Amino acid sequence: QTQLKGKDFLGLVDYTPAELNYLIDLARDLKAKQKAGEAHQLLKGKTLGMIFEKSSTRTRVSFEVGMFQLGGHALFLSKNDIQLGRGETVSDTAQTMSRYLDGIMIRTFAHRNVVDLARAATIPVINGLTDFSHPCQALTDYMTIQEHKGRLEGLKIAYIGDGNNMVHSLMVGAAKFGMHIAVASPEGYTPQEELVRTSKEFASQTGGSVLVTNDPKEAAADADVIYTDVWASMGFEAEQQERERAFSGYQVNEELMSYAKKDYLFLHCLPAHRGEEVSEGVIDGPNSFVFDQAENRLHAQKAIMASIM
Ligand code: CP
Ligand code: NVA
Repeated sequence: QTQLKGKDFLGLVDYTPAELNYLIDLARDLKAKQKAGEAHQLLKGKTLGMIFEKSSTRTRVSFEVGMFQLGGHALFLSKNDIQLGRGETVSDTAQTMSRYLDGIMIRTFAHRNVVDLARAATIPVINGLTDFSHPCQALTDYMTIQEHKGRLEGLKIAYIGDGNNMVHSLMVGAAKFGMHIAVASPEGYTPQEELVRTSKEFASQTGGSVLVTNDPKEAAADADVIYTDVWASMGFEAEQQERERAFSGYQVNEELMSYAKKDYLFLHCLPAHRGEEVSEGVIDGPNSFVFDQAENRLHAQKAIMASIM
């Protein structure tokens, strides 16, 4: 029996493969119930606070709609509109909010903020993206892959692009699910080495593997899933031009996709920049499942909230 009540959702590192599989199963069950119009008000009368320090389309809408569908309520709290934006500490914010709410979702820059918030809060905290990781998205992505491929273990996922928050969470997830992940990034933009080591350790226990290379073709070779993300994440906009130079040759396009398996799935967390990290032909083509992914944010996060809140 998987018991997650009260647990934070800060990163996939804190969850066992069995717990992650449980969340995916629950997400698929809640998705089926939602589509069938079956009631599943697992969080009736509960409230989620959503602190945003960065922009969002999917995260904001899917968390808010998700709470509504679960019978609860969600509050949108832009950082600049609450006292946190005027210097009230993360700890005081966490302690105050814990007196009103049943859970907090936060999207912020420094990962430290999420960790500090979770430490001071007496209610579960969910990481809605930091500069370091994006675990809600990665859980959703593995749910989406499982739906389309029928399994995760043994599959190869290639991530081509920036060694950012997205690939960090994907790497940990792949390792926990016994998948083979190959990451191709230019020198200077590779994923954090410590997390690569941690992921390799997880992979050694599940039969998965983690490869980091500078060669996109090597990563894409025989891949079941191809993933990319923007070259300049939120907060890195000033580096756009130098990044465009560094990442030329790392575009996911038809030529590179000729190295992947014929029935590869293309995934992207969105928002995307067509003509930069991905060609129009790939992201709008028959192998692309990016809107299934976007939809699944709703179902995966409902599973997370229903389990921990
Ligand atoms: N993928 C994702 O988190 O999208 P938003 O930035 O729109 O929330
Ligand atoms: N890596 C991107 C993901 C957006 C959902 C960013 O941090 O901007």
